Amino acid sequence: MEITLPPETTLQPSTQAFLDGSPKKLFINNEWVSAANGETFQTLNPATGEILAEAALAGQEDVDRAVRAAREAFESDAWRQMSGEDRGQLLWRLADLIDEHADELAELETLDNGKPLRVSRKGDIPFAAKHFRYYAGWAGKLEGATVPVSYPNQFVYTLREPVGVVGLIIPWNFPLLMAAWKLSPALACGNTVILKPAEETPLTALRLGELALEAGFPPGVINILTGPGEPTGAAIAAHPGIDKISFTGSTEVGRKILEASAKSNLKKVNIELGGKSPNVIFADADPAKAIKGAIWAIFSTAGQECVAGSRLFVERPVYEQVLEGLAGEAQKIRVGNGFAQKVHIGPLVSERQLERVIGYIDEGRRAGARIVTGGERLGGEFERGYFLAPTIFSSEDDELSIMREEVFGPVAVVTAFDDWDELVQRANDTRYGLAAGVWTQNLSKAHRFAQAVHAGTVWINSYGLFDAAAPFGGYKESGFGREMGKEALDLYTNSKTVWVGL
Ligand code: NAI
Ligand code: MG
Repeated sequence: MEITLPPETTLQPSTQAFLDGSPKKLFINNEWVSAANGETFQTLNPATGEILAEAALAGQEDVDRAVRAAREAFESDAWRQMSGEDRGQLLWRLADLIDEHADELAELETLDNGKPLRVSRKGDIPFAAKHFRYYAGWAGKLEGATVPVSYPNQFVYTLREPVGVVGLIIPWNFPLLMAAWKLSPALACGNTVILKPAEETPLTALRLGELALEAGFPPGVINILTGPGEPTGAAIAAHPGIDKISFTGSTEVGRKILEASAKSNLKKVNIELGGKSPNVIFADADPAKAIKGAIWAIFSTAGQECVAGSRLFVERPVYEQVLEGLAGEAQKIRVGNGFAQKVHIGPLVSERQLERVIGYIDEGRRAGARIVTGGERLGGEFERGYFLAPTIFSSEDDELSIMREEVFGPVAVVTAFDDWDELVQRANDTRYGLAAGVWTQNLSKAHRFAQAVHAGTVWINSYGLFDAAAPFGGYKESGFGREMGKEALDLYTNSKTVWVGL
């Protein structure tokens, strides 16, 4: 394994030790094991194209084994009889371990995903720890209700019970953070889990498995299987021994997860899928704040965010001024290896993703959309990695694929609008409904837009903020179910109604 870093940068000894060249294993029943058939796959550093590590490729037999371990753990006294408070202590201990190992986890995240080290270190990793702490607090507070009914002499109450064995399938854009989004409520509610990280970014999930062992989770409570969508993800989605799947990723795979559920055991599903989020700048917005906000709405994580503000609607009177401001800001963005100083955005996660995004850019160009800035893959010192210049299109054609489809790259389309009805109609003219943004000094207008837009999250004079306490999820083809906050507890519990004849 060779890891080329920018000059004057080094890795923590613990990061180097983790990437010692030996193949990474599967985490089943608190043990590290190879895949039953011995298969492996490679994970790359998207900044250099170099191989970082080889990891076990889990097949059907491994999934069966993990499901057995998770089922046994779910039925075991060690987990079943554990009080919510004690489960909370375990989650809290894991959060502390994440914080203690934050430098190393941040390095692994940046190597595997490409995002700037500062973002991993100040964002993804500490936020992951916060999720475990937030749900540690809920673990002992899962209350049912007493229910007044219309019969005399009947006492009715509800219990909240864990769903059982839960499969967690996550993408590569926020590897550790999304693992935390799903693991922390699932475990707080008393489920046992099988986590499958994306094949592009398995490393931090595997390190998390080591930390979970250290934290003291009983065997089988947390199992981690690495491998691609097929066969690994598909085997989890179709497994009759799994009670529920929580999935984040593409709409296409979201459909497959639902089909697999329908065809196997009707396992419960929550899905968080793609987006094509409208971000609106009214003429009365603070221009500097709106421009900066719109820039990071689309370019943060190199545009590889489900909530990316990829359709930017600007009120006509300020359109030219805003467009010029956006182009100026986009050109100031420093793209580079995530380990280099002062880099704002890293590469795309993979060559496949880069090609996809370039395909959309070419299509937009051919269809007549005007490129205001960017549009090119970066060459020279960057040519081995998957780097793309921040790209802004100007267009008024809502039928273009760059206006309709999730590009998942640093590509914004800016378009002018004239009045309210037109804005609302066009903003909602999408099969997605994940998020939206609005920039205006008129708060009444902002709240009216928040009500009119079909989206699960709306940011007013801000964009892209997340918190463990704030529910998040989609409308329309962006999925269903709400992760984070109190609402996520509903995803990972069944409500049981008990009738008592007095
Ligand atoms: P994907 O949906 O294929 O991958 C997400 C996860 O699903 C990965 O862990 C993958 O291994 C797994 N998976 C793939 N096929 C599966 C199957 N048949 N059964 C079970 N699990 C399966 O997404 P991909 O291919 O990495 O990216 C393609 C596009 O998806 C992106 O360009 C973007 O538009 C969208 N996407 C959206 C994300 C979001 O945050 N909502 C995250 C990642 C991708
Ligand atoms: Mg990788």
